[in-house]
Amino acid sequence: MLPYGRQSIDASDVEAVVAALDSDWLTTGPRVAGFEADLEKVAGAPCVTVTNGTTALHAAYAAAGVTTGDEVVTTPMTFVATASGAAMLGAKVIFADVEDETANIDPAAVEAALTERTRVIAAVDYAGVPADYDRLRKIGESAGALILGDAAHSIGSLDRGRPVGTLADLTTFSFFPTKNFTTGEGGAVASIRPELIERVRTFRTVGLVRDRAKMRYPDEGGWHQEVHEFGLNYRLPDVLAALGSAQLRRLGEFKARRKHLSARYDELLADVPGLRLPTQRPEVDPMRHLYPVRVLDGRRREVFDRMRAAGIGVQVNYIPVYWHPVFEDLGYRRGMCPNAEAFYAEELSLPLFADLSDDDQDRVVETLRGILGS
Ligand SMILES: Cc1ncc(COP(=O)(O)O)c(C=O)c1O
Repeated sequence: MLPYGRQSIDASDVEAVVAALDSDWLTTGPRVAGFEADLEKVAGAPCVTVTNGTTALHAAYAAAGVTTGDEVVTTPMTFVATASGAAMLGAKVIFADVEDETANIDPAAVEAALTERTRVIAAVDYAGVPADYDRLRKIGESAGALILGDAAHSIGSLDRGRPVGTLADLTTFSFFPTKNFTTGEGGAVASIRPELIERVRTFRTVGLVRDRAKMRYPDEGGWHQEVHEFGLNYRLPDVLAALGSAQLRRLGEFKARRKHLSARYDELLADVPGLRLPTQRPEVDPMRHLYPVRVLDGRRREVFDRMRAAGIGVQVNYIPVYWHPVFEDLGYRRGMCPNAEAFYAEELSLPLFADLSDDDQDRVVETLRGILGS
């Protein structure tokens, strides 16, 4: 089965991992620090690595101080972790509908959802296209809420030349194998605000305070460390950080390939009836993570099944988050976000990854054309 996304591993990646295995460090060591410095160059802001994109979200919400009684406004057009990270800290999740064009959270819907309890507004850069953070930040400032960008799809994207990582107060990344580059499992939080990135660092290290200047009992002894706020062990091992740094050296190559393949899809699918193609905002230079087409005329399920039967691993990203039974059981009802539901009903992600060959892409296009009858 041709997958919809997968990693690209070459000899330089293997060499970096083997060198890490041969070193004195397996878990947090010099390669984690090195990877965080490499990430900062891409994200434009200091970064703390964690074990995956889900824990990045949990750590970011914790750093934002999200707790029981708070509200977090987010998009339903995402992987469940964008919402569950806040819910697990006791927040009430409020879903704001998405824009028809980008499937990113609609700032007007966010504005309508604000209350005095809104602590965080969490956007997702769907398919690699940054959300409208300039508007979201203005809205956040007026409401006293922080902006979180779930950039699991968009590391490497730019908005008016500004890297994803600088657009929100807190930005989270995932390095799962289908993402723009990989560490196997892995993730990170970036922040333009030093106090927030420090809180993330402490949270991902079980809450341990090791700086004497910050200790309540600094004279206890050289072994002493103390916990002021609960945290978890979300540390990324050095072995995986080594892979991350090697992969980051190839990020430009990955971006160029994704751009080439997206442009080819745009061209080869332009005249296929019954399809709506993703659009491009001119101010954005995206790291195209997904190629999400909309299959019209109620044929998405049929097209999904027939593509899969033909060995082409298309995917659907995503069911609206509040359709998950865990939210349904909390009283969330279908119909809440009509744009997101309409998008979900038609969405189909075509294979897109750096090692996808032009020939395999031609096969995807021909199969789709055959099904849609052009
Ligand atoms: C938008 C979004 N947020 C969060 C995550 C969670 O990342 P991870 O799979 O690394 O936990 C993913 C990836 O699945 C994602 O696509």
